[in-house]
Amino acid sequence: MSFELHKPVLLKNFLEQLSYFDNVQNYLDCTFGRGGHAAEVLQAFPEAKLFAVDQDQEALDYAKSDFVPKFQDRELQFFHENFMTMDFAEKGIKDMDLILADLGVSSPQYDQAERGFSFNKDGPLDMRMDRRKELTAAEIINEWDEEDLIDLFKNMGEHRRPFRVVRAIVNDRKEKPYTSTRELASLIERVDGWKKKGSHPATKYFMALRLQVNQEINLLPESLENLIRALRPGGRLFVISFHSMEDRIIKHRFKDLQSFGKIVNKKVIQADEEELQDNPRARTAKLRIFERG
Ligand SMILES: C[S@@+](CC[C@H](N)C(=O)[O-])C[C@H]1O[C@@H](n2cnc3c(N)ncnc32)[C@H](O)[C@@H]1O
Repeated sequence: MSFELHKPVLLKNFLEQLSYFDNVQNYLDCTFGRGGHAAEVLQAFPEAKLFAVDQDQEALDYAKSDFVPKFQDRELQFFHENFMTMDFAEKGIKDMDLILADLGVSSPQYDQAERGFSFNKDGPLDMRMDRRKELTAAEIINEWDEEDLIDLFKNMGEHRRPFRVVRAIVNDRKEKPYTSTRELASLIERVDGWKKKGSHPATKYFMALRLQVNQEINLLPESLENLIRALRPGGRLFVISFHSMEDRIIKHRFKDLQSFGKIVNKKVIQADEEELQDNPRARTAKLRIFERG
């Protein structure tokens, strides 16, 4: 099987930051994806041992078939888990020199219609990164109360006026449940209007559904503390986020956690023009770094 690849974001900035380390022995990659960042760390530090986590089985299948053969002489451990709920100590993950969490979905997940993340492609209303989990976007759309849907799109999608779309969903689903991404996107286009320019009106609704299905926001604050606790003194945690809401949480949480160490970059690190030309998906990426004291 051949796997689609993913362009690692902020790679140049990440590599520049690695000059801080004399050596890396233990590296935890919380969001392995296609191993773009992980491969660079293993190449830069010949003694580094990799602990890699991904909640998507496909990332682990890729690791087995394509990544592991390239690093046969290295110590590599893979975990099919949600890093935000994982018990690190139980897995022997402690005293890490370097931890990276590159949040959100990978390009292959987004680009495959059957995963249901994209409103541009017709696929099932799924959006689960971990397909062992039960909650799908279809269940939210077809079963949640009107009020709960409004709250979801306001809070997670930061949509100010989702009322008409939600009313239309609640009305239409009585006739026939929503099953596909295009059905939902077409309804949003019809109700909110779509002139085929600017950002697509379904963007915020799809983002809210994805964040809810994968619990990407509510587990994040607690998880940041667990990650910092898994560092050795002087070890560094790198977090790359893609939404303003996530970045706000990381920024504030790092401030609250200063009894554990210090914020390395007061100014958030973002992609330069060269990277944006090459990878428009890096447009909203933000990197924040925390050092354990
Ligand atoms: C943005 S991609 C990471 C790409 C990776 N840095 C690379 O260079 O290939 C995010 C990956 O992390 C996984 N992921 C996202 N949130 C996760 C979580 N909470 N726990 C485990 N894996 C997660 C996704 O399934 C996806 O494969």
